[in-house]
Amino acid sequence: MGRKVIIAGNWKMNKTGAEGRALVEALLKEVASFDPAEVDIVVCPPFTTLAEVRPVIAGTKVKLGAQNVHWEDHGAFTGEISAAMLKEAGVEYVIIGHSERRQYFGETDETVNRRLQAALKAGLKPIVCIGELLEEREGGRTEEVLRKQIRGGFAGLDAATMAGVVIAYEPVWAIGTGRTATPQIAEETQAFIRAEVAALFGADCAEKVRIQYGGSMKAANARELVAQKDIDGGLIGGAALEASGFAKLISEALAK
Ligand code: 13P
Repeated sequence: MGRKVIIAGNWKMNKTGAEGRALVEALLKEVASFDPAEVDIVVCPPFTTLAEVRPVIAGTKVKLGAQNVHWEDHGAFTGEISAAMLKEAGVEYVIIGHSERRQYFGETDETVNRRLQAALKAGLKPIVCIGELLEEREGGRTEEVLRKQIRGGFAGLDAATMAGVVIAYEPVWAIGTGRTATPQIAEETQAFIRAEVAALFGADCAEKVRIQYGGSMKAANARELVAQKDIDGGLIGGAALEASGFAKLISEALAK
């Protein structure tokens, strides 16, 4: 059994409630023919838009995700949202450790790990982002950086739990820049990530864990990227903000 493709749209700080509703209404029409046994389709709106999107996609093949989660159940953590709150809001998936949170909001491998543990405890399906900066790639430090993010971010998990985590490899230099990693670079890096998972959690876990690519992925490059052995889908920013383009991207990914 191969790994099931997973395509997730990270809306970032885009789409009001009304805009989000309109987007998923259009998306549902576009994805009507896709087989949910072949692909997991996820949308991750901003927190305030979750409630608007939820009833529109309830019971459909499009699943609800959030963009962050705090590690505590409740308390004095202004601006944060707990895993229980996300569960109550109907959320199934949650993005953790996106590079924008690492860059602008002080996210570290340690906080990623705490958020991950809380998400798992609540029964949320985590999508954990890792990836190197441009200067790290150019300095030949990509593997060292990823190894540290993997060891720190996934510390304390057992192999069975790790097998259910989705990893999103997002080279920071490819995010929102139009500069996609070539399928060869993405594959080579994702094969390294899988090998690291194997070293830490065993070959069986590494075979099961799904690794998405993210960074300027669009309909025009999705097929070639997802055709790579170690690329099991995508985490999509800009190209997830418009229904027909996002649906086309999914169909290209499935045509691999
Ligand atoms: P873009 O697809 O806009 O490059 O963003 C990728 C990303 O950061 C998804 O989380």
